[in-house]
Amino acid sequence: MPETLTDSPIKARQGRLVSALETAGLDALAVNPGPSLAYLTGLHFHMSERPVVAIFSRHNAPTIALPELESQKLDGLSYELKQFTYGEDLSTWDAAFSGAAEAAGIAGQQVGVEPRSLRVLELRLLENAAPTASFVTGESSVAALRMIKDESELAMMQKATDIAQRALQDTLPSVRPGVTEREMAALLIQNMLRNGSDGELPFQPIVAFGPNSANPHSVPTDNVLKEGDLALFDWGANYRGYFSDLTRTFAVGDVEPELIKVAEVVKQANQAGCRLARPGISAGSIDQAARGVIEEAGYGEFFIHRTGHGLGVEVHEEPYIRGDNERLLADGMTFTVEPGIYLPNRGGVRIEDDMVVTDTGSRSLSNLPRELIRLA
Ligand code: CO
Repeated sequence: MPETLTDSPIKARQGRLVSALETAGLDALAVNPGPSLAYLTGLHFHMSERPVVAIFSRHNAPTIALPELESQKLDGLSYELKQFTYGEDLSTWDAAFSGAAEAAGIAGQQVGVEPRSLRVLELRLLENAAPTASFVTGESSVAALRMIKDESELAMMQKATDIAQRALQDTLPSVRPGVTEREMAALLIQNMLRNGSDGELPFQPIVAFGPNSANPHSVPTDNVLKEGDLALFDWGANYRGYFSDLTRTFAVGDVEPELIKVAEVVKQANQAGCRLARPGISAGSIDQAARGVIEEAGYGEFFIHRTGHGLGVEVHEEPYIRGDNERLLADGMTFTVEPGIYLPNRGGVRIEDDMVVTDTGSRSLSNLPRELIRLA
């Protein structure tokens, strides 16, 4: 299992959560296993038939209800987390949840939950444990914290990027006419694990050859790589719960001249978006910069998705790099810049890098070449 974070950033996050809850008019936040729980506790739980819920209150120390058999995960924590365990007997669940709710003091209070993550199972237990509390949408308070990465998080994202890059480099020598998308996806996954990725990848890699590369959400098939194809790889690694998400496109043999031109336009668009990233400019302006390059070259109608998305403990999170997003970039935000041009039935090119906003500008975690490299 992944090692937990050191405790000091965890304590700092819990402190920042208290202010975020105050701003949001909430007394507490209740979270079940998922990215936010890992972010706020450094503990990794899986969602299973046995419910786990942690309650972070503005007024009391955090509490957690969990199965006895998972309680050793809490050994040696240096911050306070009051635990309430239950056994295999279902009748013991309510007591554990009531204990956690009472110690957190949420009776009569406004408690934020994450509607996309919390199940009816956990909600019913919380409602029984604190019948006078109101459970309301509270995901924006933790999303706002997660958007700004600290040094330890950036170090893990750099590792996730390095692992992914090495995995692709180890895979490319095998990419030649005759192999299938499925075979190359399997090899790429294997190479990520070999290079140190945790097993739960952020997403199934996309490996798309020839016309399939014109579909941004292509999945690996038995399609065989041919001379004259573009070969597109969109993949990412997981390092201790932090993700990378990269895309590179290669030429196999002689590809038609227009696809070579398109690759150059996409590279310019990627660079225009990356160059602009700095504190104080809007997320939307990154999209506009990248899109502008593609429109100017006459391919606007073939760039059919937003320019990027935030990245961290989830593969899609704030800030979304969409033309209408007025959110201002700030030091510590991380996001992808991934413009693409997709010519139906011919091929597509996408180039994706993972950017970090710094105090004065930005830097890219990824540095694989962005030119259209010829593989065979
Ligand atoms: Co992406």
